[in-house]
Amino acid sequence: MCGIVGYTGNGKANAVLVEGLKKLEYRGYDSAGVALQHENRLLISKAAGSVSDLEKALDESGNRATAGIGHTRWATHGRPTDENAHPHSSCGKEIAIVHNGIIENHQRLRNRLLDEGHEFRSETDTEVLAHLIETYYEGDLLEAVFKAVEKIEGSCALVAISSEEPGRLVCARRDSPLIIGLGEGENLVASDIPALLAHTRKTKVLEDGEFASITAEGAEIYDSSGRVIDREIFEIKWDIEAAEKGGFDHFMLKEIMEQPDAVKETLRQRVDPESGKVILSELGLTAEEIGRLEKIHIIACGTAYHAGLLGKAVIEKLAKIPVEVDVASEFRYREPLLNENHLAIVISQSGETADTLAALRLARRQDLKVLAITNVVGSTVSREADEVLYTWAGPEIAVASTKAYLTQLIALYLLALYFGDARGSAEPELVLELVSGLKALPGQLKAVLSEESLSRLRAYCDHLSKWESAFFVGRNLDYAVAMEGALKLKEISYIHAEAYAAGELKHGPLALIEDGIPVIALVTQKAVFEKTLSNIQEVNARGGAVFAITMEGFDDVARQVESVFYLPPANEILAPVLSVVPTQLISYYTALARGSSIDKPRNLAKSVTVE
Ligand code: G6P
Repeated sequence: MCGIVGYTGNGKANAVLVEGLKKLEYRGYDSAGVALQHENRLLISKAAGSVSDLEKALDESGNRATAGIGHTRWATHGRPTDENAHPHSSCGKEIAIVHNGIIENHQRLRNRLLDEGHEFRSETDTEVLAHLIETYYEGDLLEAVFKAVEKIEGSCALVAISSEEPGRLVCARRDSPLIIGLGEGENLVASDIPALLAHTRKTKVLEDGEFASITAEGAEIYDSSGRVIDREIFEIKWDIEAAEKGGFDHFMLKEIMEQPDAVKETLRQRVDPESGKVILSELGLTAEEIGRLEKIHIIACGTAYHAGLLGKAVIEKLAKIPVEVDVASEFRYREPLLNENHLAIVISQSGETADTLAALRLARRQDLKVLAITNVVGSTVSREADEVLYTWAGPEIAVASTKAYLTQLIALYLLALYFGDARGSAEPELVLELVSGLKALPGQLKAVLSEESLSRLRAYCDHLSKWESAFFVGRNLDYAVAMEGALKLKEISYIHAEAYAAGELKHGPLALIEDGIPVIALVTQKAVFEKTLSNIQEVNARGGAVFAITMEGFDDVARQVESVFYLPPANEILAPVLSVVPTQLISYYTALARGSSIDKPRNLAKSVTVE
């Protein structure tokens, strides 16, 4: 999620690191920092804000340094402040590190290190790693990093330097990428290729569980038992723009493909593997408060509102609390009936949407507790809400939201299970099924995103792209997904797309069904399966061309439609997480076929901070 650069060579480390960090700002941009090796000590400069803010804060005495590490942050643990920015360092600042990932057992380690007398300067999980390395340091940084990494649970891409070992960078990788760049008289390491390209196209990729020691002369890679690994050189052919998008043509496709990881991150540490219970330790709501809730108001805009519609269904099913869902711009002006036994849940990827914020303030003025689901630590919504449940999707750049939406769904499932448990209202068998279903989602999403699926959907979109209007239909949870599918298609392909509850077709839209018109039907809900099939027949009878998105095992669908796309079997409550993905890809490939501006659609903005 964040960006890492490390440099050792004969150039000016300060300049190389800042330039590299600027190339990584698309990965995270709420604070940044560098640590430079300078005359047997480390010079550390950090600043909340952009890399340009860091540039102004740089210690000029470091201008002669030829080795150092840098980081641009997308906050997870701890707000975006100077103190929480990386690099983090040992008590005496002899060792500094930059880190991407999440250290799951950081609290336990922090307590132990505090007992041993270490002094902490930040609220981050990363800082424990700096102190752990310090504990094990006996003159060989690689050795100490080996031992420290062994002690942590979670993911990490780590680069460390020590004031006692000039010109040496030590790296470790687990679940989070690191790439070594091999230059002339200089070597680099970075979390992403764009930071390397100004210096070299020759790279060596670190694999999971590997370590590296890098000097200006060379880079040595080690496996977890310390054996040297001979890694082939990988020559980068991408230009800088392609590299930023991870080799994809658009951020939107990159973000769609990141969804298995985004879901995994959002679930991480929130489900106890032994008891199967959902643990949301970040929430301060007591079981008594949850038990007292008479109503929940979910408030959001755009895609986040569509996530809220699914949230309503799931919370009502598991926690048995009535839920109203409002578009924020309506909520704030409709004089809703509120009282202190109601809870407001605001959902916002950016945490800055003006209407959502106004709705949050209105709810708080009327004595409601507000729980925010957001993707941005330190955003206004996160600061003003009473409780925050973060989605860990990482920065989303394409205007059309994809991975943030999926992680909002995960947050809502977790919340529904958590509330259901606190109120004793959820059926235990269903809870177990959903918890194991949630854990299976990242793997199932990978299957939905296979090469074969992509080319099938792309072929369908060649046909869809020739139309100027399309329908998305479904019942129950499928209807909420249909709304999101239609929104995405209109946002980026400019095709007029409408979502309808399948049962409503005969109350209007059937008048528009003509020969060949594209109708995308979502069919994943068992209880209304037959009913949806008969709605599909109503469309067929008028010549509409139905593309169905359904689950393996729903065999009758194929007989009723022109084409069918199968999803891996899942509990129908979780099906939206899978079924929305082909709709995202349909929008993407249709927009591609029509030559639209995919990442920045006309007239739309990523974050709408005005009313
Ligand atoms: C804009 C974006 C959408 C987003 C909506 C709400 O319309 O283009 O992608 O869903 O705002 O944004 P938020 O950041 O509050 O989720």
